[in-house]
Formats: sequence, C-alpha cells, structure tokens
Amino acid sequence: MTQAPVKIGIIGGGLMGREMASAFARWCALEEIGVTPVLTAVADLSEPVLAWFDRIPTVHLKTRDYRELLASSEVDVVYVALPHHLHAPVYTEVLRAGKDLFAEKPFGIDLAAAESIVSVITETGRFCRCSSEFPFLPGAQRALELARNGDLGRVLEIRSGFHHSSDLDSNKPANWKRLSHTCGEIGVMGDLGMHALHLPLRLGWKPTTVYAQLQKGVAERPNPDGTTTACDTWDNAALHTWTEARGHRAPMTLEMKRLSPGSTNSWFFEVLGTDGGVRFNTSDPKALWVFRRDKEQWWQRTDLGFGMPFKTITGGIFEPGFPDIMQQMWAAFLLERAGQLQGRFGCVTPEEALASHQLFAAALRSEASHSVERVN
Ligand SMILES: NC(=O)c1ccc[n+]([C@@H]2O[C@H](COP(=O)([O-])OP(=O)(O)OC[C@H]3O[C@@H](n4cnc5c(N)ncnc54)[C@H](O)[C@@H]3O)[C@@H](O)[C@H]2O)c1
Repeated sequence: MTQAPVKIGIIGGGLMGREMASAFARWCALEEIGVTPVLTAVADLSEPVLAWFDRIPTVHLKTRDYRELLASSEVDVVYVALPHHLHAPVYTEVLRAGKDLFAEKPFGIDLAAAESIVSVITETGRFCRCSSEFPFLPGAQRALELARNGDLGRVLEIRSGFHHSSDLDSNKPANWKRLSHTCGEIGVMGDLGMHALHLPLRLGWKPTTVYAQLQKGVAERPNPDGTTTACDTWDNAALHTWTEARGHRAPMTLEMKRLSPGSTNSWFFEVLGTDGGVRFNTSDPKALWVFRRDKEQWWQRTDLGFGMPFKTITGGIFEPGFPDIMQQMWAAFLLERAGQLQGRFGCVTPEEALASHQLFAAALRSEASHSVERVN
C-alpha cells in the first residue's frame, strides 16, 4: 500500500513530545495503513530537549521559537504538548497558520480557553483532535463494544477513571502541573479527566449533574535550590454524576487521582447492568472481566492479546503497552484526517473536549457550593 507522508511538527518536546517521536520512529509496525508521519520540526525552549531530537534523522528544523515552526512549509500537522496555560494561545496560532492540530488535553486551561479554541477551529475549518490513548487498548475497545451493544439489561452504574500515586512523595519537586496558574484551577481534572471521559462521551453518556469531592495533597514542595513552592492544585477528584445511558438515568462516577496509594498508572472503565457487566483496568492489562447472570452469577476473565483497532506486525498473543497505544492513537488521527477511518475508533473530538471542560467547570462550582450542580 502506498503510504502518503504527513509532515509533522512538535511544539513542546518534553515527556509527551518525545513519546510521540518514538511512536513515529517505529511506524513500520503498522500494516495496511495509507499514511506515514514524518517528523520534520521541533520547537522547545530547552536546548537539551532540542538536542534529544538529533536522534531523529528526518528533523530538519529545531528552534526555540515555535513561530518559526509554524512558518515552515515542511509542516502539515502540529502536535502541541505544552503546559496548560499555553494551550489556547498556541493552539489558535497553529490553526490560524493553516496547519492541522493534534492538541494535548485538557484542551485549554479552563472552559473559556476551550471555547476559544473551538471557535477558531470553526473559523479556520482545520482538522483538530485531542489526545487520549488508553481507549485504544484491546480491553478498552472490548469494554466499549459491550457497553454499547452488550446484553447488559438496564445500566445500574458506570465508573470511569484514572489513578496514579506519583504525588504521594512529598519530596517530589514542584513543577507546572502542581500550580493553578500553569495547570489550571481544575488541577487533576485537567491532567487526568479527559482520559476518564473519552469512552463515556463517545457512548453519548454526557453528565447532566455533578456533585464533586475535590482534595488537595502536599501544600509545599521543594525546589532544587532549597527553597519551596506552594502547590495549590486539586490532586484528587471524585465526580458523582447522573447521565442517561441506554435509555435510563444512571449514576456515573468519574475518578481522577494523583494520590492513589498503590496505583502507578491505572486507567479503568466499568459498567454494571441488571443482566450483564464489564470491567477493564490497565493494572491488569490483559484481563477483560465480563459479568453474566443465569441460575448463578459469573465474573468471567478473558486473557486478551494484541487485538488493536489498527493492525500491526505484532502477533495476536502478545501484550500491548503504552508506546503501542500512542502509535494507535496517531494512526486514528492521521486516518481520520485523510478521510480513511472507516468506522474505526477515533480520537477525542473538539466537542468532546469542550464537554469535559463544561463538567470540570460545574465540578468547581459544586466544590464551592457543596451542592449538586447542573452541567451545561
Ligand atoms: N496523553 C497523555 O497521556 C499525557 C501524559 C502527560 C502529559 N500530557 C499532556 O501533555 C502536555 C505536556 O505535558 P508534558 O508532561 O509533556 O510536559 P513537560 O513539562 O514534560 O514538557 C513540556 C515542554 O514544553 C516546553 N515549553 C514550555 N514553554 C514553551 C514555549 N513557550 N515554547 C516551546 N516549548 C515550550 C518545555 O521546555 C518542555 O520541554 C500537557 O498538556 C499535559 O497535560 C498528556
């Protein structure tokens, strides 16, 4: 199959920027795919970060000024992975420069920022999607299919979330993700909330009301020079919502935690109904748990293999991991951009990202009022 090259520029080559470069570098793993990303340009303020990209031979432009990258005719699509306060200004510049955009979550520091990004997408007509990779795992895809079409009876409860524990260590230095002015007042919801909402929103399970329990953790963290920085973001969020699922009102709990003892990076999704149910958690990444009820009640565990939405050279019995789902997410982005998704699972749309911000804004109101708030 001919593979049309798509020239990619990255703005922000930190943790995520490098992860994406690595996904492109092993694109040969994908079968029957008509598009190939070619990383041509990188912009970052840090010289050591730019130097890391010397290992990618197709990168011709490395710059501290992202506007130089936007001016380059050697860039078709821009992936932006910057601190959250820079999302709206940089995303809108990317779109107005005539480039398509793969945007990192949370898609703006707050609801107003997300609204401004969506309005510039409409104004420019550029193609834009937002990053969320965990639903590309085989277990998540199977859970999605069961949630949509499985014999579940009436949906009784939905739980979706993301837990990690990297903030339990109070000696971990402060960074932009712990400060409201760079991470957002929404804190952990901006960090992890899009991951928790991608499947519910894709299923049409939009929250209508929310009662939020938000918690802060370590108030001060050390800097390398011996001083300390006040950390003011919410670290844990439990959002108790109502939604409409398969024709009935159902409670849906969305959990985002940076302080979850024992969790490294646990993304989970579960739906329980009167007749059936499904559970998937990346802490046991090959296991799909399916509930059924006949004379007795059963939780059945299936050992999953490499059943990815986009076919690869990897044998069906093997285990997928984080780098694989990053690559799958890019396959979805590039194929949808080329009009070739053909009904397969796609990345978060701008409308879904906006819906996540509407929920987070209502959650902040709920935390302040200690009451249930309507999500609009
Ligand atoms: N999808 C995921 O699983 C996932 C995981 C982690 C982070 N993220 C998201 O990715 C984004 C970036 O997070 P990260 O963890 O990669 O952050 P990071 O701090 O590791 O990287 C950010 C990079 O941006 C650079 N930068 C800052 N200001 C800049 C500017 N004006 N011009 C150019 N470069 C600039 C920094 O030098 C740094 O290298 C955030 O939106 C975050 O929420 C997504």
